[in-house]
Amino acid sequence: MSFDLIVFGGTGDLAWRKLMPALFQAFRHGSLPPDGRIIGIARDNLSDAQYRDLIRARFDQVDLAKRPSPEEFGQFAQLLHFMRMDLSKPGDFQRLGALVHERRADVVVMYLATAPSLFTAAVEQLAAAGLNTSNTRLVLEKPLGHDLASNREINNAVRRVLSENQVFRIDHYLGKPSVQNLFALRFGNALFEPLWRREDIANIQITIAEDIGVEKRGAFYDQTGALRDMVQNHALQLLCAIAMEPPINSHADAIRDEKLKVLRSLKAWTPEALAQHVVRGQYAGYLEEPGVKPESGTETFVALHAEIANWRWAGVPFYIRTGKRLAQRDARIVVNFRPTPHAIYQAPVGAVNKLVIHLQPKDGLELHLLAQGQDGRRATQLLQPVHLDLDFDKRFGSERVGAYERLLMDVIDGRLNLFVRADEQEEAWRWVEPIIEHWDQDPTGPRSYTPGTWGPSASSAMIARDGHCWSEEC
Ligand code: BG6
Repeated sequence: MSFDLIVFGGTGDLAWRKLMPALFQAFRHGSLPPDGRIIGIARDNLSDAQYRDLIRARFDQVDLAKRPSPEEFGQFAQLLHFMRMDLSKPGDFQRLGALVHERRADVVVMYLATAPSLFTAAVEQLAAAGLNTSNTRLVLEKPLGHDLASNREINNAVRRVLSENQVFRIDHYLGKPSVQNLFALRFGNALFEPLWRREDIANIQITIAEDIGVEKRGAFYDQTGALRDMVQNHALQLLCAIAMEPPINSHADAIRDEKLKVLRSLKAWTPEALAQHVVRGQYAGYLEEPGVKPESGTETFVALHAEIANWRWAGVPFYIRTGKRLAQRDARIVVNFRPTPHAIYQAPVGAVNKLVIHLQPKDGLELHLLAQGQDGRRATQLLQPVHLDLDFDKRFGSERVGAYERLLMDVIDGRLNLFVRADEQEEAWRWVEPIIEHWDQDPTGPRSYTPGTWGPSASSAMIARDGHCWSEEC
């Protein structure tokens, strides 16, 4: 199979940090079809050779499992090409059209790794240059718009020129092996399904914590904030994976239909819920970050309490928490089961059965149980928490296929399972929009928190009001 992969934003941060290393890994693993061209597009004036040299130099700065030898890189570099384009010039799209049509590859992938403000015009120009044929696949990077209206505008522009099954909306969390294991845990095993319901689960906590700050992305991040950057997409996709019904098969639309139902079932926000169930924070020092406005009210932390209004989940709190400059890099989902209905043992306060799904940096599962304790040589009635620990990195090796590698190969192979459909995305925007509007009208702004902590104390207070606590606090 032959392919052309055209990366708009070919000299941008995403291309250097994620796409090119992922394509290289795919090449190294033998999964990239050899008959291909990877064409970087940008406004720079570069020859193919200069582009290859730049990528080679950047590879020294990224986290590749093993540095490529000059020979290995040389073979990969044969696939790399560069084309100078100004996305505001229709003539440049015509030139691209000519380059692509001349070769007639089996698959033509257009990867828009540019600012989303350019998406609509770029898609229209691609079509005008005849690049929307049946073998075209379009990859769109998040953020897709900054609210429901702008998201719809992009989706509508795309719909006018391509069918939905040609569109690959990336949420790189879905490409992580740990997230695929979450689907496998739920739908490849019968063990937990009978317990996966309001009668047995007290609450579910989804945490995506980062220890880094905004780094060099201050200007972008300041326009975006944690709600749009992480909650609208990654966190809600994790919530869908946890809460969805088993799909009827493993086809993309069967999975996406079930995720969509979860998003549609999210309980609508009331003024009271917005006041009580959402906390926004900003780390101390954020205002001094390069690119950030000195008086910025952008949130770098969000904690919220969501509910899913359906038979399986009614009344079960789903807590979502994400932020930058938190205590540690740690993404995990904690499923807290209800206590035994009647106690014949003593147990430490708050000790319950829980399933901890570690997404990163550790990829694994822990099942927390209570066992008969021992005091010296005497058994006691006091139970002790113990846990079963399954480490997928140890079990399967830590050099598994990374998220971008997996997703890029899925695009080339035409597998849509791990991509987000337009209606899912719109539903997620619909749900987060009232929060954005509430914050816009709330003069108090985000609460400050000390870097290296778990966010503002209001986050613990929010969950404590429900009689629960974040997993690291209890
Ligand atoms: C991106 C966000 O989507 O995800 C970044 O824009 C964030 O702000 C990143 O740092 C986190 O991804 P990961 O894979 O490092 O958890």
